[in-house]
Formats: sequence, C-alpha cells, structure tokens
Amino acid sequence: MSDLLLVIDEGTTSTRAMLFQPDGQCRATRAVELTQHYPAPGRVEHDAREIWEKTLAVTRAVIDEAGGAEKIAAIGITNQRETVVFWDRETGEPLSPAIVWQDRRTAATCRDLKDAGNEPMVQAKTGLLLDPYFSGSKIGWAMANWPEVRAAGKRLAVGTVESWLIWKLTGGLHITDATNASRTALMAIGSGNWDDGLIELFGAPRGALPEIVDCAGRFGETTLFGAAIPICGIAGDQQAATIGQSCLKIGETKATFGTGAFVLSQAGPTPPTSRNRLLSTIAWQLDGRRAYALEGSVFVAGSLIKWLRDEVGLIGSAAETEALAHSVPDNGGVYCVPALSGLGAPWWEPDARGTISGLSFSTGKAHIVRAALEAMAHQAHDLKTAFAADGVDWKSVRIDGGMVANNWMAQDMADILGVCVERPKFAETTALGAAMLAGIGCGLFADLAAASVMRGAVESFEPAIADEDRAARLDGWRAAVQRVIAVP
Ligand code: G3P
Repeated sequence: MSDLLLVIDEGTTSTRAMLFQPDGQCRATRAVELTQHYPAPGRVEHDAREIWEKTLAVTRAVIDEAGGAEKIAAIGITNQRETVVFWDRETGEPLSPAIVWQDRRTAATCRDLKDAGNEPMVQAKTGLLLDPYFSGSKIGWAMANWPEVRAAGKRLAVGTVESWLIWKLTGGLHITDATNASRTALMAIGSGNWDDGLIELFGAPRGALPEIVDCAGRFGETTLFGAAIPICGIAGDQQAATIGQSCLKIGETKATFGTGAFVLSQAGPTPPTSRNRLLSTIAWQLDGRRAYALEGSVFVAGSLIKWLRDEVGLIGSAAETEALAHSVPDNGGVYCVPALSGLGAPWWEPDARGTISGLSFSTGKAHIVRAALEAMAHQAHDLKTAFAADGVDWKSVRIDGGMVANNWMAQDMADILGVCVERPKFAETTALGAAMLAGIGCGLFADLAAASVMRGAVESFEPAIADEDRAARLDGWRAAVQRVIAVP
C-alpha cells in the first residue's frame, strides 16, 4: 500500500529526507550537511549541484528504507527561502553558484533603490522591504555581474531552491509555489502573480522565472526512484513550519529557531500591512486562495552556536550550551548581539556587525555562551514589541527548530517574552508541514484542519522570572543593540 509521505527538507546548512505515516509518525530520517561558501565578507554561496546530489542521496536512502517507491503516496518539498539558483534549461546544470539568503552583496543596490524612494512601492506590492535578504536584487546582481548567467539568454532558468529540485526531480518542470514566490520581491502578493514593474526594477529576466502554483496539488512526478511518485506539496520552510504548528487561526504564532529565527503570525485572507518594519508574506495558497502571515525574520540563531563551535572553538558541541548556561547565575553583564550577517527585523541594518560586550576579568566561557543563548529570547522580544505595535499581541508562542531542544533556552524564552511557550514533542514541524501539504495534494486529507491530525503532543514553559530581572535584561540588550546600530 502506498500511504507514506516523503518530505524533502532542504535547509541552509543541511538537506534531509523524512518519511511520515498519515498519523504523523516519523518512520525514517536521513540528513547530510551542506558546504557553506564564504567567498568574501558578507557573501554566502551554495553549490546547487551539491544541493541536488545530496538531496538525491538522502531521498534514495529513505525510499529504500520504505521498501521502494511504490510505498510512497506523495512527495512534499520545503526549503530555505530566497536563495537563488541559475541553471541551463538544456543541460540542467547550474551556471553559477547559488546566492544564499544571508548574502549581503546587494546592500548598496538596495540602499540606492531606497534612497530613490522605491521602498513604499516595494512594500505595498510585496509586503517586503528593500533589503539584500530577498531574491530580486540577487537575481539582478547575477544578471549584471556573471556573464555566463547573462549569456545563457533563453536557456537561462532562475528559481529558488524548490524550483531547482523540482526541475531535477521531474526532468524539466519549472514551477515555484506562492510562498516561495512571495519571498522574491518580484511577486505582487495581493494578486499572486509576478509583477512586471518589480521585475524591471531589480533587472530580473522575466522569461527565466518559474510558473507560480498552489502549495498542494498534483504538480508533476518523479520517476528517478523506480515507480512514479507525484510531487504534491510545496512551501518555503518557515511557512511549512507555520502549517506544521497548526497556526491556522488569526493571531496564532510560531517561532522557528534554525539557522536563523523566523516568527510568523497567522493573519488570515487579507495581506497585513506592517508599520513597524515587519514583513507581510503568503502563509499558503490552496485552491488559488491565499492566507497571509506577518513575519519577523532574524538572520542569526543556530548559526551563532555553530560559529562558536566551528570558528571560535568555545564549545565542542551545541548540546554543551545548556549545562554551561545553567552553570552561572546570570550573564555577568555580557551581551551578544549576533549581527554576523547584518541585522534583520525589526532593525534591517545590513551593514551592522556582531558584538560581544560587557567583558571583564570575571567573564568566563559560560557567561559568553549564556549571552549567546539569551540573544535568542532578546531578538524574539524585539519582534514581540514590533508585532504588538502592529496590533498583534502574542498570547503564546509555538517554538520549534533545532535549537529548542535546549530546555534552558525554551524557559528563558518564556521568561523574557512573558507568555507561555509551547514546544511540540516532535520538533521537526517544518517537515511535518510539508507532509501535511503533500497529504492534501494527494487526497489523503481534505484540508489543513484535517491534516492537523498529524500534529502530536506539546509541552509548555510558563514565565517564571521576576519583573525587575526581566527589565534589567531588556535594558542591557537595548543598550547593546543601540551600540551596534550606531556604529555599523
Ligand atoms: O528565509 C530563510 C529561511 O527560509 C532559512 O531557514 O531553516 O535554513 O534557517 P533555515
């Protein structure tokens, strides 16, 4: 019987394949790390060929574990958003490196476009801001600076990572879903279509862009693994996590702590308008109808811990951070502002750089590690303030992502946010959301409410800190951020 849902979850630092039963039970997982290329300060690239080859390998491994392609009902794809791939339609090979969402190479272009007065128009059409984070300026940069991309002419295909994987899986289908398209800054999120004015503004090649489709449906099939398997679900990873956390009612909010930290609040059928530097984005599109979300995007979360481990050598493993944070009574006056690739929401300072401040001879490793973990709650609190100013008061927050296995951090989040923090026992909600979409697309579930049966139990963390201690933490953080913004 073919009732298993296969999810490809292609994140920034790893690519994985997972198998789900229709009741939400995860039957198998395979993951492999991806190489990060940093060719110059502020530049981050991926090798699209490596993404494809590693994705193919993990997918093949879980299909073998399932007992063959005939056991798989459908594939759901979820991915790091905004990262752009440039490939040749004839050879199916990449023409250049992929430019990753963290890449800041278009900071000056975005500043110029902003100075020329374009931001209100861009925000009104796309829900986004003029920041190098989004794909549009990256595509324009590649067209202007990489001759092999420009010279490809009609052979050029451009897409975010799900488009690239679907092209490779199907042998030439060029589509993207509405959630991923909404992150390019080339789509008008009210209509769900590419916008010619935005395409011209950023210098993107119209004919190279994919067709925009729903998040669930029968989009095409892959025959690479034996029997044909239909591709039935597609969503950017943060939108997939919003679905996996069942944030279906207006105001329901999730925060994912992966490479970065991304908070999305369900906003219903009308695009919200932020007056506080948050983003308006498509949460999903089903049967041509869109639901929207208000989003706060923080660029550095788990990548800070990875940096402390791999580049600074302060810790041997991420798991050590919990005991280290517990080992000191407080941060000892140390604050870490993790602006290692600029600051995202609500500050949007692409040139800001990270700091560790408040050091003294009594500072030890544990204080620095604790300050790094505390930065997660502090960044989330900045977003909470911006969301509240936009009229969205969080009643509780559903957390997920690789970092939230850390109980100390989950409790600190509840303490600093001052609301209940809920953590699902199965933390891979991004993959779960993609499985739910694939289940809808292949007819296993009627809609998202029905697909929510896949979601399992949750545990709660309640605020337990004294008000004056929370206020002192927030004062220290505010001062540290102001120093970073004042001296970019
Ligand atoms: O917008 C970037 C985001 O999609 C990256 O997600 O899971 O790789 O941190 P992740």
